[in-house]
Amino acid sequence: MDSRPIGVFDSGVGGLTVVQEIMNQLPNEEIVYFGDTARVPYGSKSKETVTKYSKQIIRFLLTKNIKAIVIACNTASSNSLEEVKRTFDIPIIGVVKPGAVMAYKTTKNNRIGIIGTEATIRSESYSKEIKKHNENIKTFSFACPLFVPLAEEGWTNNEISYLVSKKYLEQFTDKEIDTLVLGCTHYPLLKEVIQDVIGDNVKLINPALEAAKDLKELLTSINALRQNERVPKHSFYVSDNTTKFEQIAAIALKKSIPPVKIIDIEQF
Ligand code: DGL
Repeated sequence: MDSRPIGVFDSGVGGLTVVQEIMNQLPNEEIVYFGDTARVPYGSKSKETVTKYSKQIIRFLLTKNIKAIVIACNTASSNSLEEVKRTFDIPIIGVVKPGAVMAYKTTKNNRIGIIGTEATIRSESYSKEIKKHNENIKTFSFACPLFVPLAEEGWTNNEISYLVSKKYLEQFTDKEIDTLVLGCTHYPLLKEVIQDVIGDNVKLINPALEAAKDLKELLTSINALRQNERVPKHSFYVSDNTTKFEQIAAIALKKSIPPVKIIDIEQF
C-alpha cells in the first residue's frame, strides 16, 4: 500500500480526460495534476522542446512526493517518454502504448487509422508501437490540429465540428480502416461527432481509458494502491491563467475542483 499521490501532466486542459478515467477506475487515488497552460500547444513544437518541458514538469511533480507519473499528453508521450524514463527513477506511464495495444487487439482487418497532433503523427509513435506487435497491420495517420481549439471552445458536437471532422476524416475514405485511435487528449471530447462521420463500422480507441487501466495494473503489481482511509484530495496546478482551466475542468470532470494554483514552471 502506498498513499502518495499520482502525478499527471499535460500541455493544458486536455489531460483532464485522462484524470477522469483515473478517477473512475481508481477512485481512492489522489492526483496531482499539472497543465502547462502557458506553453500549450505542444502539438506544433519540436521533440527537443516538448522533452525539455516534460522534464521541467516532472521535476516539479517530484516535489509533491508522488509515487508514479502518467503523461496524459499524447504529444509528450510520443516524443519524450523514452528520454524521461531514462532520466527519472520513478514509474512513468504514457498514453501511446496502452492505446496502441488496444488498437491492435481490436482490429479484425489489420487496418488502423490514427489521428493526433502534428508532433504525434510526425513521431509515428502509434504506428511503431502497433507494428511491434504485428508488422502486417497497415496504419494510416493524419494530424487534425483544429480538433484541439474546437474542444476547448466547447464546440464538440455542432455543425462546425461536424464539417471539420468531415474534412479531416475523408482522408480515410478508401483506406478501409475498422479501428481509429483518438491519439490526442482532446479528441475523446469530440467522439460522438467523429463516430458519426467515420461510421459505426469503425471502432474508436480512447488511449486515456487504456492508460488508466495500465496504471491500475502497475500500482497493483507493485503493491502501491492507496487504501480508502479518507476521501482523496486532488490538487491542480497550471503555468498560466486559471479561469479557462477551471471552466473546462468543470465540463471534463463533471464536478468542481479545488482552487487551481499557478506555478512558474521555468524554475524547474
Ligand atoms: N495534449 C496534446 C496531445 O494530447 C494536445 C494539445 C497540444 O497540442 O498541446 O497531444
